[in-house]
Amino acid sequence: METSSLEKPQARTVLRYPSTDTLRRRQQHNRGHVSIADLSIRFGQDANAHIAVQNFNLTIEPGEFVCLLGPSGCGKSTVMNALAGFIKASQGNVQLDGKTVEKPGPDRGMVFQQHSLLPWKTVLENVAFGPLMTGATKSQAESLARTFLEVVGLSAYAERFPNTLSGGMQQRVGIARALANYPSVLLMDEPFGALDAQTRHMMQENLLEIWSEFRNTVLFVTHDIDEAVYLADRVIVMSAAPGRLIEDIRIDLPRPRTEDVYSDPAFISIKQRCLKLIRDETMKAFAQQNQA
Ligand SMILES: Nc1ncnc2c1ncn2[C@@H]1O[C@H](COP(=O)(O)OP(=O)(O)O)[C@@H](O)[C@H]1O
Ligand SMILES: [Mg+2]
Repeated sequence: METSSLEKPQARTVLRYPSTDTLRRRQQHNRGHVSIADLSIRFGQDANAHIAVQNFNLTIEPGEFVCLLGPSGCGKSTVMNALAGFIKASQGNVQLDGKTVEKPGPDRGMVFQQHSLLPWKTVLENVAFGPLMTGATKSQAESLARTFLEVVGLSAYAERFPNTLSGGMQQRVGIARALANYPSVLLMDEPFGALDAQTRHMMQENLLEIWSEFRNTVLFVTHDIDEAVYLADRVIVMSAAPGRLIEDIRIDLPRPRTEDVYSDPAFISIKQRCLKLIRDETMKAFAQQNQA
């Protein structure tokens, strides 16, 4: 993957973006309450039926940063996709701000592991696309896009095409694009999973700085325990398939979090707890796969 010194998010400078009226208004509205009640998701029919998520319950308060942690294949993306409105609940209910989720909408901003930018549009046009679709004029949308590119430290790349940017930069454009719709909740599915360790850490810091300013609700999927504990207010540990919630761990480590947090005894103890839960779950998953 192409890297350069420009790759690194300018974590210390992102807070200098212009604060907009819209932003303040949305913060006052206290949006982003997620309620997932008794959710089960089944794929396939009859003999081929496969339960991916079972009796999953989760409530997230506005502004909380929640990480979903669990072994591969346990249903993390499935829970996220149900909240995104891409797949329907087989049983139970998924609500955002009191409304049942039925289809995708601009109140949910998605960031995936592989960027999904439109290759034929410039970086600016990619970020401006959402606001344009929801009724902003071209100049309003471009002005918003410039604001959010500044937030992620990529103002200088507005006129470039996505394929001329490194993986980390493309993910930052993806975050700017998601934020430009003023989502109530930011849904991030292993967004830094494909990045090298150094870049991933810079991205995590950058994301926390942005979140501390915007206070969107964030639901962040990862299988990386360090990442989950470093970022989250709460780490939700899921069982092996079919995914259930097995532990809801509150992370009371002080913010802003810096690298020092990794040597904090509280961090180490939570990490060990997560490691044990995930190890037990992975063993169970292996045993299940052996029987299949
Ligand atoms: N669209 C789908 N159709 C059929 N099975 C699916 C579909 N999406 C996911 N699954 C299955 O559901 C289970 C959970 O998948 P997923 O949510 O992607 O896991 P995770 O994100 O935790 O790795 C897996 O067994 C996967 O194969
Ligand atoms: Mg997944």
